[in-house]
Amino acid sequence: MAEAAGLPSSVTLVGAGKMGLALLQGWAARGLTGEGVAILEPNPSPELKTLAEERGFRLNPQQRDAPEALVLAIKPQLLDIVAPSIAADTARNALVISILAGKRVEDLAARLPQASAIVRAMPNTPAAIGRGITGAFASPAVSPAQRKSAHALLASVGEVEWVESEALIDAVTAVSGSGPAYVFYFVETLTRAGVDAGLPEATAARLARTTVAGAGELLRRSPDVSPAALRENVTSPGGTTAAALQTLMAEDGLGPLLKRAVRAAKRRAEELSG
Ligand SMILES: NC(=O)c1ccc[n+]([C@@H]2O[C@H](COP(=O)([O-])OP(=O)(O)OC[C@H]3O[C@@H](n4cnc5c(N)ncnc54)[C@H](OP(=O)(O)O)[C@@H]3O)[C@@H](O)[C@H]2O)c1
Repeated sequence: MAEAAGLPSSVTLVGAGKMGLALLQGWAARGLTGEGVAILEPNPSPELKTLAEERGFRLNPQQRDAPEALVLAIKPQLLDIVAPSIAADTARNALVISILAGKRVEDLAARLPQASAIVRAMPNTPAAIGRGITGAFASPAVSPAQRKSAHALLASVGEVEWVESEALIDAVTAVSGSGPAYVFYFVETLTRAGVDAGLPEATAARLARTTVAGAGELLRRSPDVSPAALRENVTSPGGTTAAALQTLMAEDGLGPLLKRAVRAAKRRAEELSG
């Protein structure tokens, strides 16, 4: 296998659905090739088959060696069923990276008894276009070299933000894991507000969608400018934007509403992992 951008030399990916495939595409884009990559996926999509063939990855191999890293991307409810068949993959003190929502390090350790170096990660859907952000927590047994490998694997689909306590993964879930849906809903409601202001629906929808996408791109291209400064740049005193912001920034405006929404998501994440 080609040495690729700090990626481990052998990886087994368990589950190549939406998120697993996105990761695999990210690794491939960073130059990972060859038989060191094994993929376990009972229903490989045509896209997955093509990628595996092009890159020389092994899809559902009959036999495999214990890899340097084992990446779990199955549905959380499948963990109990799948764990016995992958337990041997952790024999060589493999780094285990799990993106399973709600499965704690202790849940994973209980089902994979030989595993100790465990990273729990929470990506989000823009990973599919390489523009995600993943919150990650490393258990104490993860070595600095393994943390680097985990960072490289996760950074292939976007940015990585490490948190120092596992409990914070629930907050990450509530902010960035679920966050894309909040933004999509914002576009829906801005569209409806546009219709209320007299626009044809299709026009309002295009205005809302492109405004959010464009503002997002502006944010991305201005890493040293705070969102508040970007907002102030387009807000003239006494102008139209200021009039709208007065409502959005009121005591009962968007701030407290979003705080309640994020708290609800965090509570639910806590319940699901409890
Ligand atoms: N999508 C997101 O935004 C997101 C964000 C953060 C975390 N996650 C986490 O990522 C994980 C995967 O989510 P997803 O959206 O990618 O789900 P998904 O598309 O359903 O992918 C899961 C894949 O695992 C496969 N699988 C089933 N049984 C298996 C087995 N025995 N061995 C190996 N693979 C098996 C499934 O195949 P079948 O189709 O045949 O069942 C499916 O292709 C979940 O734990 C989720 O919590 C997802």
